[in-house]
Amino acid sequence: MVNIEQLLAPHNFSAFANAAELEAALADKITQQLNIALGKTGRASIAVSGGSTPKALFQLLSMADIDWQSIDVSLVDERWVATDSDQSNEKMLRQQLLINYASKANFIGMKSAVDDIEAGVIEYNAKLKDKIKQPFDILLLGMGNDGHTASWFPDAAEIEQALNPDGQSATLATRPRSQPMPRISLSFACVAQAKNITLHITGAEKRKVLENGLSDQQENLLPIHQTLLQLEQAVDIYWAD
Ligand code: 6PG
Repeated sequence: MVNIEQLLAPHNFSAFANAAELEAALADKITQQLNIALGKTGRASIAVSGGSTPKALFQLLSMADIDWQSIDVSLVDERWVATDSDQSNEKMLRQQLLINYASKANFIGMKSAVDDIEAGVIEYNAKLKDKIKQPFDILLLGMGNDGHTASWFPDAAEIEQALNPDGQSATLATRPRSQPMPRISLSFACVAQAKNITLHITGAEKRKVLENGLSDQQENLLPIHQTLLQLEQAVDIYWAD
């Protein structure tokens, strides 16, 4: 079993003095990466995580004066709730990111009109195939204090399917016991295709989970550790206290 230094060695860990400095640097990086992608093909795509951490980053990004109408914006994961629910990542994006210049972005949500989440998985797989530039140029991950990332929760029965590098579906439903509602999420197999992956985390607790939560048993790895171990590309890890 690897130790944390070995686990993080292939990745780029950056510690910032505070959240505002992290957000400014990350907004600049994402803007540059979007412009590079636009310069190559005239289109770009980005998948972002929800939760509370990225809200201020999204507000900064929304003010980037770039060709948003040529950019596909979607989600890494979503709570399976109505898109007007306060729990909805789509609602949060519409309030924090899809405003200002970014209001012109081509947003494709994960929650479908139908209530059946398995039908929603099929529907979103079709959107990935037909409507969203793939692979994602940029993909933004968060992390919970339980070591989940995306909606790959340690207490979800679907966790092995979610993290399977050879998984056949780009999207899956998870039903974590700790969560009040089911989740729809990109799979590891889809996330691993992204051209640039950033993990955005803040606070001492999350840094402790990242750096000290490493199990010495492969089968007990937290999803974030298994993700960092399995990915064949360097993840930019942005952390601030
Ligand atoms: C979600 C996110 C999830 C998030 C972590 C961290 O739907 O909740 O996509 O993966 O990144 O739960 O959330 P916080 O930023 O709120 O701590």
